Amino acid sequence: MSEPGSGAASGDTGLSNLLHEERRFPPSEEFAADANAKADLYDAAAKDRLAFWEEQARALDWDQEWSQVLDWQTPFAKWFVGGKLNVAVNCVDRHVAAGNGDRVAFHWQGDPAGDKRTITYADLKDLVCRTANALTELGVKAGDPVAVYMPMIPETIATLLACARIGAPHTVVFAGFSADALSGRILDADARVVVTADGQFRRGEPAALKPNVDEAVAKCPDVRHVLVVRRTGADVTWNDHDVWWHDIVDRQSTEHEAQAFDAEHPLFILYTSGTTAKPKGILHTTGGYLTQVAYTHRNVFDLKPESDVYWCAADVGWVTGHSYIVYGPLANGATSVLYEGVPHPGDKDRWWKLVAEHKVSILYTAPTTIRTYMKWGPEPLQAHDLSSLRLLGSVGEPINPEAWMWYREHVGGNHCPVVDTWWQTETGAIMISPLPGVTATKPGSAMTPLPGISADVVDDSAKPVPNGGGGFLVLTEPWPSMLRGIWGDDQRYKDTYWSRFEGLYFAGDGAKKDEDGDLWLLGRVDDVMNVSGHRISTTEVESALVSHPKVAEAAVVGASDPMTGQGIVAFVILRGGAEDAGDSTAKELRDHVAKEIGPIAKPRQILVVAELPKTRSGKIMRRLLRDVAEHRDMGDVTTLTDPTVMNLIGEGLEKGGGKDEA
Ligand code: PRX
Repeated sequence: MSEPGSGAASGDTGLSNLLHEERRFPPSEEFAADANAKADLYDAAAKDRLAFWEEQARALDWDQEWSQVLDWQTPFAKWFVGGKLNVAVNCVDRHVAAGNGDRVAFHWQGDPAGDKRTITYADLKDLVCRTANALTELGVKAGDPVAVYMPMIPETIATLLACARIGAPHTVVFAGFSADALSGRILDADARVVVTADGQFRRGEPAALKPNVDEAVAKCPDVRHVLVVRRTGADVTWNDHDVWWHDIVDRQSTEHEAQAFDAEHPLFILYTSGTTAKPKGILHTTGGYLTQVAYTHRNVFDLKPESDVYWCAADVGWVTGHSYIVYGPLANGATSVLYEGVPHPGDKDRWWKLVAEHKVSILYTAPTTIRTYMKWGPEPLQAHDLSSLRLLGSVGEPINPEAWMWYREHVGGNHCPVVDTWWQTETGAIMISPLPGVTATKPGSAMTPLPGISADVVDDSAKPVPNGGGGFLVLTEPWPSMLRGIWGDDQRYKDTYWSRFEGLYFAGDGAKKDEDGDLWLLGRVDDVMNVSGHRISTTEVESALVSHPKVAEAAVVGASDPMTGQGIVAFVILRGGAEDAGDSTAKELRDHVAKEIGPIAKPRQILVVAELPKTRSGKIMRRLLRDVAEHRDMGDVTTLTDPTVMNLIGEGLEKGGGKDEA
């Protein structure tokens, strides 16, 4: 692949800028008039960025005020230096003290339909205090990492908050990960206590968790205790170090005196995989993190804590769950829906039943889910009253314009602002997003950095690209919820994020600025294709495919090609009702891409598939598709949600369907 900037189409600006979007969606007058964030928020932040962040930090309760807003020794930041606060008190106790103990914190819905719990802020306070007392009895002290491998149940939320309350950084490992992934993380974080459950419910069936923990802990000699919630009632092997949750937590006092911790005290470590094998332990701390998650949650989602019902449909195992199920919403005193299950073909109605039942007003989900419902067709949505919804959010991947439009129309009834929010595990909180009461949105664009955030798109020599150009997304100023490093590896932190461009945080994503200077995320730069010297983003070709009425979802990769350097190979899932007419469908789609973005982006081969390989957080694994497209051995596929998907795709490709004969 050529260096960025060498492509013929792009001059020296990096990525080719291909798609154009003319549609605009300004907020309604009523929405704008009542919005938490008005246009003056941008002015306030531009006038004095640090004073602006101080103002945001004052929305929290501090035991001791900071003496300095920011201490920046590139690339190491300290925010609110000298300040002290307790995160759990900010998320729970202060709402009870303000007289809102009866407000619902979580409407919990288990995967089995009959499993429901309503947890008020007062209930949550009791549960968090009991859990904090139990962890203390198990010997956990401030600074001791605790590993959490749990399903989406209220005890999980309580565990995170209890850790925060006693100053023990948590490290959550997604409950779909293997024993090896778990032991690697326990060892790297040096956690001595693991909190888990006997099992969890997935797609209507119980699935075991405890055997994975047993296998993992066998390799972790320093683990002293495993605290186990009974969730499924499955038989479990019992070891000396195991303790049942109901035996120890239930008998604790509901009183627990919280201590204030330094603003830079570690709050959590969350492992994220990069291009190399060893996952990175991303470290977040307390004061700056809580400030920015609360600020973004209040302004991007326009939260009205007295009247809104908010649902972030992520898993607590990912950063979205940390920031926008737990810390942001609770810091703001929100009422949330917490759902244990995931959408699946056996129960397409479930989500929409939940929205109607709880009168959900704000929904935050990922493009992969939206495209799944596009594939299934709008009928499951139409059967339910979704009129309570007033705002929709998207995160995790670039959202194709047509998926954005589908979300707006079929979920939002054409009246809800859609906010496409760009951020990362590393950024801790939302960075680039519309403000729903201010921004005239464009389908598929995350628009502009939020007030207080500075981002740009630069070329290979760190020069900002002009409007209309594409390149690398960078963050140009430190932000309060930024990662403070990679756990135990400062050098890797510098090398990974700060070495590509001096003094700039490089996010790993490609982006373009449109004619108005608004930002369009183009996916990971590793996913860029080079076709006859044109650098073309996989996202743009995927969006062109998804804009065809027959296509629900598309994944595009560049496979090496003797003629063009790389050729474009597309894998598509058709929408419910659309028929695969073989080569004529492939031709129709190829012509459609040519019309939307130009003949250069025409896929060499288009394959209609039933499923795409996705990571457990829903991101398409393009690396594997590249391997099949180039007939390489795929190696380890166990991190996929469904490893068998790859065999089916490989067989289709071998048959040679969908090739461009031209
Ligand atoms: O490539 C970007 C994509 O997801 C990456 C971060 O992934 P993770 O750390 O797992 O966090 C996901 C939840 C914040 C980014 O580098 N990404 C995330 N949001 C968007 C996005 N790409 C385009 N548009 C988005 N809104």
